[in-house]
Amino acid sequence: MKKSISLISFVIVSLFFCSNAKTVKVEITPQPSEVSPLISPEIYGQFAEHLGSCIYGGIWVGESSDIPNTKGYRNDVLEALRELQIPVLRWPGGCFADEYHWRDGIGPREDRPTMVNSNWGGTVEDNSFGTHEFFDFCEILGIEPYLSANVGSGTVEEMAKWVEYITAPDGPMAKEREKNGRKEPWKLKYLGVGNESWGCGGSFLPEAYADVYRRYQTYCRNFGNNRLYKIASGASDYDYNWTDVLMKKAKNNMDGLSLHYYTVWDWANKGKATEFTPDVYYYTLGKALEIDDVIGSHADIMDKYDPEKRVGLLVDEWGTWWDVEPGTNPGHLYQQNTMRDAMVAALTLNVFHGYADRVRMANIAQLANVLQSMVLTNGPEMVVTPTYHVFRMYTPHQNGKLIPLNFNSPYIEVPSERSDVMRKVPMISATASEKDGKVTVSLVNTSLDDKAEIDIPLMNLDVNRISSAEILTSPNISDFNDFGHPETVRPNEFKGATVKKGNLEITLPAASIVTLTLTK
Ligand code: AHR
Repeated sequence: MKKSISLISFVIVSLFFCSNAKTVKVEITPQPSEVSPLISPEIYGQFAEHLGSCIYGGIWVGESSDIPNTKGYRNDVLEALRELQIPVLRWPGGCFADEYHWRDGIGPREDRPTMVNSNWGGTVEDNSFGTHEFFDFCEILGIEPYLSANVGSGTVEEMAKWVEYITAPDGPMAKEREKNGRKEPWKLKYLGVGNESWGCGGSFLPEAYADVYRRYQTYCRNFGNNRLYKIASGASDYDYNWTDVLMKKAKNNMDGLSLHYYTVWDWANKGKATEFTPDVYYYTLGKALEIDDVIGSHADIMDKYDPEKRVGLLVDEWGTWWDVEPGTNPGHLYQQNTMRDAMVAALTLNVFHGYADRVRMANIAQLANVLQSMVLTNGPEMVVTPTYHVFRMYTPHQNGKLIPLNFNSPYIEVPSERSDVMRKVPMISATASEKDGKVTVSLVNTSLDDKAEIDIPLMNLDVNRISSAEILTSPNISDFNDFGHPETVRPNEFKGATVKKGNLEITLPAASIVTLTLTK
C-alpha cells in the first residue's frame, strides 16, 4: 500500500496572491503515537563501489600520496564524512561485487595481482584497497560494514571463507588474517549474497537465484559472537515477480531483501546533471517520488508472506543517474550534483521515513565521485555536494521515533515532453521524528516559484522552542559546488520560523529544504 507521507487529508490549503508572489498555506498536524516505528539509522547508509574514482582517488590515495591522508585514506574526505554519522557502508559493489575475488585484495600490497574492472570502463586496478582497507576505513568512521559478496562468478567456498576470514576468532582463516596484520576478528553484520542477480550478478531467473541464494547462505556461518544479517539480492524498480518468488521460496533463509531504484527515465538519454528546464526538474522529482508506489507495492508482496515484517526491505541502491560530465570516462559515472539532486535526496528520505516499519536500510549511490555522491574530488581538491548537506541536516532523524504528520499539499502538475505521463509533484513534503526529548521537523518546498506558509500546532508535542534551524536553498535550482566554488550551495541559519501561542509558524521559501529542531 502506498504510504505517501503527505497524503492524509486534514486539508487546510489556500492560495492567495500578494503582488506577484503567490503564497500557499498549509497546516500540518503532528499525530505522535506510541506505536510509531523508529527510523532505522541505516536508511542513511552509503554505498562505495570499485567504480571510477569512488574508491581509488575518492577515498583511498595510499600512504605515500602527496594528498594528506591517514593510513592511505584522504583526510578531507574522512573529515567530511564524519559529519554524516554514516551508519552503514556497502562495498565492494554493485556489479563489481560479482567479479570480485577477495583473496586478490589481502596480503602485502605489492604482491597483490592487478585486475581489469570490466564492468566499469575496463580500468586496471591494483587491489591496494581490499578487505583490511575497507574494514579499517569503517572502523575509523564508526561505520557498520555491509559486504556484497560474489555469487555470479564466485564459489560457495569463496564466500564462506571470506566470512570466516573476517569474523572467525580462531582457526586457519583467523591465522591468515593475523598474518596479514589483524588479530582480532572484525564484526560483520550485513552480508549481501549477490547483487542484481537478475542482471550483472549472474543473469538468473528468480526461481534459480532463490535456490542458489539458499545454498550460498547456508555456508555463511556465525563464528564466535558474530551474527550475520543475510540479504538476498532483490528486484529493480517494478519487478514485483522477483520479490514474490524470493519471498515465496527463501523468506525463511533471509533477514533482508534488497531493492534498487534509480531516478532515471530514459537510459539512452539520461539528461545533463546541471542543465535542465523547469519541466524536467518537476519530472525528475515526480520520478523520484514514484519510489513511494514502488516500495509500497514490494512491501505489499512482502506483507503477504511476512505479515510480522521480520524481513527488512533494503533499498541498497538509489539516487539520481545523469549523463556523465563531458570529457569523463563514460564507464566512471562521474556526475555533478545540484540543488535538484538535494531535492531528490530530501524527498526520498521523507518517503523512507514513511516506511520505517519495513524499510530497514537504504544506501544512496554512491559515496564519492560516482552518481549522486556526497563528495567530489579532483586530485588534492574536494567539495561536498548539495546532497551531502541534506544528509548532514537529516542526521537528527537517525533512530528517531517517527511522528506521523497529517496534511495535504497542493500538487504541481507538469506535462513533460519526455513522457505522456502527467507528473504530480506535491509542493510540500514533510517528516518529523522525536529523540531524547527533541523533535526534528524537515520540510521541503518543491515549487520553483511559490513560497509556503506552514502552520504546525504543537499541542500534541512536548516542545515549545526552536533550538536550531537550517535552510538549504540557492538562487538557481541548477546551482552546484565545484572546485574553486565549493560553497555555492550550502546551508544557512534559517530565520523564517517562530513559535507563537503554541503554533510553529514557518515561511518556507521556494525550492528550499529546512530542518528545525524543537525542545522544551
Ligand atoms: O551504482 C552503479 C550500478 O548500478 C551498480 O553497480 C549496479 O548494481 C547498478 O546497476
